[in-house]
Amino acid sequence: MIGTDIFTAKRFLEEGTVVGIPTETVYGLAANALDPDAVLTIFRVKNRPAFDPLIVHTDTLEKVRSLVLAMPPLAEKLARAFWPGPLTLLLPKQPHIPDLTTSGLARVAVRIPNHPLTLSLLAQLDFPLAAPSANPFGYISPTTAQHVANQLGDQVPYILDGGPCQIGLESTIVGFDEAGQPTVYRLGGMALEQIEAVTGPLSVKDHSSSNPAAPGMLSSHYAPRKPVTLLRPGQLPAPEAYAGTLVFSELLPGISESYQLQLSPSGNLNEAAKNLFAHLRALDTLPVTHIYVQLAPEQGLGRAINDRLRRAAAR
Ligand code: TXA
Ligand code: MG
Repeated sequence: MIGTDIFTAKRFLEEGTVVGIPTETVYGLAANALDPDAVLTIFRVKNRPAFDPLIVHTDTLEKVRSLVLAMPPLAEKLARAFWPGPLTLLLPKQPHIPDLTTSGLARVAVRIPNHPLTLSLLAQLDFPLAAPSANPFGYISPTTAQHVANQLGDQVPYILDGGPCQIGLESTIVGFDEAGQPTVYRLGGMALEQIEAVTGPLSVKDHSSSNPAAPGMLSSHYAPRKPVTLLRPGQLPAPEAYAGTLVFSELLPGISESYQLQLSPSGNLNEAAKNLFAHLRALDTLPVTHIYVQLAPEQGLGRAINDRLRRAAAR
């Protein structure tokens, strides 16, 4: 069921049940992060392998501190600059966080999401919420409550509807080495340039290949069911192909407009990010055999958009 009642969501969560929740990035499939049985349900519903750890969500910096052993100074600075927001920090976990939540890793991924309904829900709960994106493992992340209902509805008793996600890309993940130096583990909804304005230049972990230490980085993630081909700059899809096309801004000549979607007619990267997953879903449901996509300019949220498109094409 889809609804807007925080108390219903709260009641299900307190019973150890999973609930769909809105965030500014994508919808999450939430459960009590401190209850291994509830967390197990998330893995089961998503059909997610147990080696792929979950992000823990809460609503205040004080609550974050109670989940972690330490916060390096740069983590503190990033948290103050960008929370609530589309940034996840990897920090050494407190022992009371179940191993299942972190897939046995010593670090927990934490974030304060920026969505009024979910912040108010979190404020009323006395536990944090583990929440991966609310899609079947490997598929495109949901950016509306209806996307969640379409794919997981029969297994999720309640989906809290907070409208379409304002950012539309999963959070940017930043981890720290022993010396407290940050590295980007996943490009996402917080632009690299904004993070670097706080930290100085950062390295982005190359997650183009499968990496068991950060399994969410498997190249096959975020993929539609149909095969995806990247268009080179200036390249047109093969004219005979039964294809859907995702263009960044300008429509391509010679292709019916009902078979091509624009990420942002005005070339705005934030608008493009917001449309990306819904457009990929729409193309996936057209009567086409494959999907062509154009990359965005490689700056701001364009980096994360292109990261998701390359992964979708790598399948
Ligand atoms: O925006 C988001 O981050 C959304 C919303 C719901 O908050 N959540 C999300 O969760 O994208 P998920 O599970 O789809 O992606 C989380 C990623 C995975 O790639 C996982 O491997 C990585 O975070 N991750 C989680 N905990 C980790 C840890 N302790 N160490 C390394 N990577 C971790
Ligand atoms: Mg995901």
